[in-house]
Amino acid sequence: MLARSSLRSSRAFAAAKSPAVRTATRNASSQSSQSAAASWKNTALLSSTTLLAAGSVSWYYYQFGRPTQAMTLAEEGLHPPKFPWEHTKLTRTFDHQALRRGFHVYREVCAACHSISRIPYRKFVGSLMTVDEAKAMAEEQEYDTDPNDEGEIEKRPGKLSDYMLPPYQNDEAARAANNGALPPDLSLIVKARHGGCDYVFALLTGYPEEPPAGAVVQSGLNFNPYFPGTGIGMPKQLFDGLVDYEDGTPATASQMAKDVVEFLNWTAEPEADERKKMGWKVMAITTVLFGLSVWVKRYKWATIKTRKLSYTPPHAPAKQPGSSFRRFQQHGYEQKP
Ligand code: HEC
Repeated sequence: MLARSSLRSSRAFAAAKSPAVRTATRNASSQSSQSAAASWKNTALLSSTTLLAAGSVSWYYYQFGRPTQAMTLAEEGLHPPKFPWEHTKLTRTFDHQALRRGFHVYREVCAACHSISRIPYRKFVGSLMTVDEAKAMAEEQEYDTDPNDEGEIEKRPGKLSDYMLPPYQNDEAARAANNGALPPDLSLIVKARHGGCDYVFALLTGYPEEPPAGAVVQSGLNFNPYFPGTGIGMPKQLFDGLVDYEDGTPATASQMAKDVVEFLNWTAEPEADERKKMGWKVMAITTVLFGLSVWVKRYKWATIKTRKLSYTPPHAPAKQPGSSFRRFQQHGYEQKP
């Protein structure tokens, strides 16, 4: 398009410049040598404008389009494989039994170092637990009360509206207990990491027995190929049979990893099931509305679209008796003269 229009304007420019070229362009289909020269110029112009267009696109992509890359593969971390997560499919919901198991793993293993401080106990009601279970769990923790008349702050058992307590008082305490590495809050970790569920699952199950030959692992770090830089402050956490699931599911390391990842996906977007349901409703309603609007459009336009225009020529005296207009008046176009 761009090439074509610039070609057109260049023709006009050339035509204005010299009368010889003007003749040549006007008779573009003729065989004259002038027109051959012009078409050679046109080809060159077309090619150069195309090259210019392609060049600017690639220059723009080079400047702004490329994703920022780490310097080496090790810095970027190994890309996790794609796992067939059921709960991320459009027509599926979270497996709430798996969420319960995942929470079990979180409480028994990860909660020692990681918080999920965006989750209040009330969120568990109806999705992972009954009200009584959630209340009982909240009451196990102690929270500060508001200051009383003497300005003293006392302790009270937790309520459904309280948020889950973090394992450490502050980030400094967390770092001090973990060799200087800060265990991040896990509430949004599935959203916060490239690769989401796949990454966290690969990270949890990806610790090799031994770092591969030649890999440099700093003291205090652990080798994990999926972690950017490969040296992670978190040691391997999941071992077969680490927890006892209440529903009797065999607690293999990969089962626990899968359950805890699904749970962490739930903490990151507890509204996911609702959102999918709403999405389907919206799709259904808009489909009906679209059909309706097509029908209304056709209905409104029907008179115009099906209208037939016919033209009755005025009865004018013909100047030349043999003219084609006269013949048309007498016989119509179908008739051979
Ligand atoms: C002994 C304490 C400890 C336990 C228990 C623990 N972690 Fe960690 N975790 C850490 C530390 C420390 C880091 C930070 C690592 C770093 O930055 O080098 C971390 C980082 C992470 C990360 C972030 C990695 C990244 O890309 O930044 C995830 C995800 C994670 N842990 C998940 C879990 C899960 C899930 C569990 C439970 C199965 C768990 N952790 C149990 C200490 C722990």
